[in-house]
Amino acid sequence: MPRIFSGVQPTGNLHLGNYLGAIRNWVRLQRDYECLYCVVDLHAITVEQDPAELTKATREVAASLLAAGIDPARSIVFNQTQVAGHAELAWLLNCIARVGWLNRMTQFKEKAGKNRVNASVGLYVYPVLMAADILLYKATHVPVGEDQKQHLELCRDIAQAFNSQFGVDFFPLTEPLILGEATRVMSLRDGAKKMSKSDVSDYSRINLTDPPDTIAQKIRKAKTDPNPLPDTVAELERRPEADNLVTIYAALADRDRQSVLAEYAGAQFSTFKERLTEVAVATLSPITAEMRRLLADPVYVDGVLRHGTARARSLAEPVLREAQKIVGLLRT
Ligand code: TYM
Repeated sequence: MPRIFSGVQPTGNLHLGNYLGAIRNWVRLQRDYECLYCVVDLHAITVEQDPAELTKATREVAASLLAAGIDPARSIVFNQTQVAGHAELAWLLNCIARVGWLNRMTQFKEKAGKNRVNASVGLYVYPVLMAADILLYKATHVPVGEDQKQHLELCRDIAQAFNSQFGVDFFPLTEPLILGEATRVMSLRDGAKKMSKSDVSDYSRINLTDPPDTIAQKIRKAKTDPNPLPDTVAELERRPEADNLVTIYAALADRDRQSVLAEYAGAQFSTFKERLTEVAVATLSPITAEMRRLLADPVYVDGVLRHGTARARSLAEPVLREAQKIVGLLRT
């Protein structure tokens, strides 16, 4: 039975990269898969968080998922802390994963920066917790943006090493699902940088909470080059900012980049940006409005998380027990 797991960190506002790279695909996949969508608060604390902000952001991110179209009657929505199995399985997998494998993780290198010895141990083993999230439910598919690909390869290595160390065929080799035109949305200020919650400039990203005039302003100020839009995708190659805006338009309009260029070839970016604003506002406004409505009803959102927790626990429990038996921690 195919099963999907994916997660998002409650560290500030969700942005267009999260939406186009991941969450919109999560919504679509609900039709054909059993899905678990998790607000990964344990991942968030691998870097310092303000406790009050973290609690608030967990509810807000859950509300964003619902507002974007995750249906809690169909999919399981919960936060990681509530299912203790994530941390318990992570420990077993920490004893399987090798230091050499973690040393290759590019996201750790980026996040830890130059002062690596001062990074938390949690940040270092973060990808192992991610593997535990997925394997705790024996998920077969994981929809993510491009930036998580290396972590999912590690998850397969860990599953394989566990199976072979104990001579079992227990954990699945999970497949990443990296779908759509916008698998890596870039900053609006710098085409070489990923759109990210942690960028100091709010002009680098479009947040799901931005009102239409803010979206318009951010797109108007987005960096571009002086040339008009080209005819072919190949000509976007050395124009990262132009490529990013065309990619965002294509993803929002559910088209491919070539068909967008066929329509706008020769147009100036000032014109194209106006059209891009229209499609961005048309897509995001209903989500923003629904988010506002849900945040005014925290009892409902908390109820969804509670219900999701109960369902997630009942799936996780037998897998964790079985893993503990395989390792020899529990009597069979
Ligand atoms: P996080 O919270 O950074 O991002 C959530 C999802 O959004 C995608 N994403 C992007 N996609 C395209 N362009 C961008 N600029 C962009 N920025 C973010 C991410 O790829 C992700 O799919 N480690 C994960 C959370 C996690 C997880 C898991 C995911 C924890 N456990 C298990 C899958 C399975 C993270 O930090 O995502």
